[in-house]
Amino acid sequence: MKKIEFKSPIIIFFLFFTSILKAESVWDKPTSALSEATQITVYRSPTCGCCGKWLDHLRKHGFEVKDIKTEEMNVIKGQLGVPQHLGSCHTALVNGYIVEGHVPAGDIIKLLKDKPDLAGLTVPGMVTGSPGMEMGGDKEPFEVFSFDKKGKQEKYSEYLFY
Ligand code: CU
Ligand code: CU
Repeated sequence: MKKIEFKSPIIIFFLFFTSILKAESVWDKPTSALSEATQITVYRSPTCGCCGKWLDHLRKHGFEVKDIKTEEMNVIKGQLGVPQHLGSCHTALVNGYIVEGHVPAGDIIKLLKDKPDLAGLTVPGMVTGSPGMEMGGDKEPFEVFSFDKKGKQEKYSEYLFY
């Protein structure tokens, strides 16, 4: 009996630990690679932790991240033309496209390869489970939207079960 009592906390800890690893690895899976060295400029609030984790996600997939911390996020979003209802925390620029919020690296790489006539991509709001927003394994389904310069939006991809 004593042995079981001793082992069970270790097993529980092990399960807990592996579930955290599993939750983080979803977005670490390889995507198609960037075809050339690509710099992405990210504007973010100095106090937002999830933004920093999204930057790590981008670096893991080969992006060179230029990290610009600013208190003027609303001004920047307005200047760049991010539609208000599609807004999130951070705003990024890559090869002339806007990337708003926790967009997975794979979608950005696809955008850069296809070069569609769009203004950018967004994951509006702050979705639990999206890259940079992994919180102990909880996951909300979400969609990535594209938008053009007139603000017309369309579904770009979806992550319902991931
Ligand atoms: Cu965020
Ligand atoms: Cu952010």
